[in-house]
Amino acid sequence: MVKSFLLTIKYLFVYFFFCTLEFSKCDAPENWQLGFQDPATPIMEGIVNLHHDLMFFLCTILIFVTWMLVRTLWHFEWNKNPVSSSLTHSTLIEIIWTTTPAVILLVIAIPSFSLLYAMDEVISPAITIKTLGRQWYWSYEYSDYVNETDEVISFDSYMLPEDELGLGQLRLLEVDNRVVIPVNTHVRIIVSATDVLHSWAVPSLGVKCDAIPGRLNQISVFVKREGIYYGQCSELCGINHGFMPIVVEVVSLPNYIAWIYNKLGS
Ligand code: CUA
Repeated sequence: MVKSFLLTIKYLFVYFFFCTLEFSKCDAPENWQLGFQDPATPIMEGIVNLHHDLMFFLCTILIFVTWMLVRTLWHFEWNKNPVSSSLTHSTLIEIIWTTTPAVILLVIAIPSFSLLYAMDEVISPAITIKTLGRQWYWSYEYSDYVNETDEVISFDSYMLPEDELGLGQLRLLEVDNRVVIPVNTHVRIIVSATDVLHSWAVPSLGVKCDAIPGRLNQISVFVKREGIYYGQCSELCGINHGFMPIVVEVVSLPNYIAWIYNKLGS
């Protein structure tokens, strides 16, 4: 009896140990997912950390308010206190319950603003990519590179229809031409649209940028690990809004150069 109990405990420990190991990163939505996808950029790490900070305040306030409510209902029930209190006003308590939330908001505002301004910063980008939202696909331009005939790299990125999916490819998320960027490089992405509003969003990169016709928005990404990151158009843009996904393939610098070389040649 005791032996089998100890064995169960042992297997539980082994199980929890393996749970803490991460075999693969979550860079696309998963079934029954509740949390964020795994961050791949410092900005997304910042967003996840800010979320956890806010959850701390949220839980503290929730517990405190619930405790107050239950205590009040318990101690001031009508048959325990048949004669109601004559207290109608207290300056001290009003000062406390006005300033405390204000101080909490200030404490939250400081990391929130620093993150907001960090997201807006474009740090001397090594590469600039232009992306255009279209009904209903994305097109990309790499204007930094020109071949002998003065052509830049540009291509359209359409969602793969269900019957063309390969084994293990994600339905409604895979595209025919992925955006390729190098790892550990400051990349600037210029976002616009040609017809209606779209939004270029990739959760793992911490990026969501409106694509507005006649207007250029810019974002900067610095991806810390190689991988394939999935995103979707995030602005209601028409019937095929759900069918214009985004796939960013982050590769090593030599692979990126080889890719560019190939694209320029063709
Ligand atoms: Cu494009 Cu929604």
